[in-house]
Amino acid sequence: MVSLEPPGSHRNSGNAGAETGFLDRLISLRRELHRHPELSEQEERTAGLICSFLEDLGISHRAGVGGYGVVAQVDGRNSGPVVALRADIDALPIGEETGLPFASATDDVMHACGHDGHTAMLMGAAILLRERPPPNPVRLLFQPAEERGTGARRMIAEEAIEGVSAIFGGHLDVNHPVGALVVTEGVVNSASDYFTIYIKGKMGHGARPHEAVDAVVVGSSLVSALQTVVSREVNPADPAVLTVGSFNAGSAENVIAGSAILTGTIRTLDPEVRRHLCDSVVRMATAAGRLYGCGVDTEVREGNPPVINAPAMTELARRAAVEVVGRTNVLRMRTPNMGSEDFGRYLERIPGCYIRYGGLTAGSDPSPAHSSRFDFDERALAVGARWLDTVARLAAQELAR
Ligand code: NI
Repeated sequence: MVSLEPPGSHRNSGNAGAETGFLDRLISLRRELHRHPELSEQEERTAGLICSFLEDLGISHRAGVGGYGVVAQVDGRNSGPVVALRADIDALPIGEETGLPFASATDDVMHACGHDGHTAMLMGAAILLRERPPPNPVRLLFQPAEERGTGARRMIAEEAIEGVSAIFGGHLDVNHPVGALVVTEGVVNSASDYFTIYIKGKMGHGARPHEAVDAVVVGSSLVSALQTVVSREVNPADPAVLTVGSFNAGSAENVIAGSAILTGTIRTLDPEVRRHLCDSVVRMATAAGRLYGCGVDTEVREGNPPVINAPAMTELARRAAVEVVGRTNVLRMRTPNMGSEDFGRYLERIPGCYIRYGGLTAGSDPSPAHSSRFDFDERALAVGARWLDTVARLAAQELAR
């Protein structure tokens, strides 16, 4: 379904050299970012690179927004409604095993989610917007700390989207071929919440259980009980996940553990299901404490809201995608992604659309995001940059009507 010519080139068939030059520039920016990944809330060098890039282009910007965030604005021909484009810039605590010549130079830190690509795409959009001024101003958000879920919230608190009427962004996806853009209306990413359960039993001798309250037994029973929340309490038509990700207890084979700590995550699409799952964790943990006669404390922490694409903005995103890759390369997600994404924080305040950029090389066997061998087809960079540029122009026009 994807043509093997450089993606986006059908628009510039008379100008293939310039197109190749543009892609090459984005590839070298991406590789520079990839080689020097930085964890959430530590993106100092990355932000410096972005700032000097923007300075070279003569684009005004503000650094240090919500941590190491950078907010830039490209002037438009008019001062009408401002459209924002967002890329996340942080990396993950993973040791890279791709063997690529531009692999991470930092031990145990890797751009394993493609945020280096997103950053290069937004830089590409900056080049295009600067070359040909958009109808109205375009705000560029280079957002830190997406992986930790704190970046969007902090940038919003520091007025990054003040005066913005609509926002667009996207994520690389190696489940879809390079040259494809995946545009889907409604919920595209789940909400995420986190819980920690502290079980306080009574430590004792492994041979004399009657003198102790065994936190391992209480915890095990609770882990099993929690599996019935999604399977027995939630409408099967409503997607939901409850995972206990860690269970720490005990110190020796002949000692009854006096305490245990369980942590986990909840992923949901519907606000009511979300509330139900959070409440159920507390209810079951409290009940387990009562059942076995021990103390149980539960903490539920709110993560990201779901990412919900507004219908009108999705339509604009789709029109822009058709313009960039042609109708047959514009796809739709079959099911929402149960991973979370803090782009939803912007969409709680302003309408917008979050899409997926196909990044799969035809015939290859891709490693998933958040794995040590993750990589994507770099031709996606020019496709993403052109889509960002196009959707900003289209939205500026439509919103000014
Ligand atoms: Ni990501």
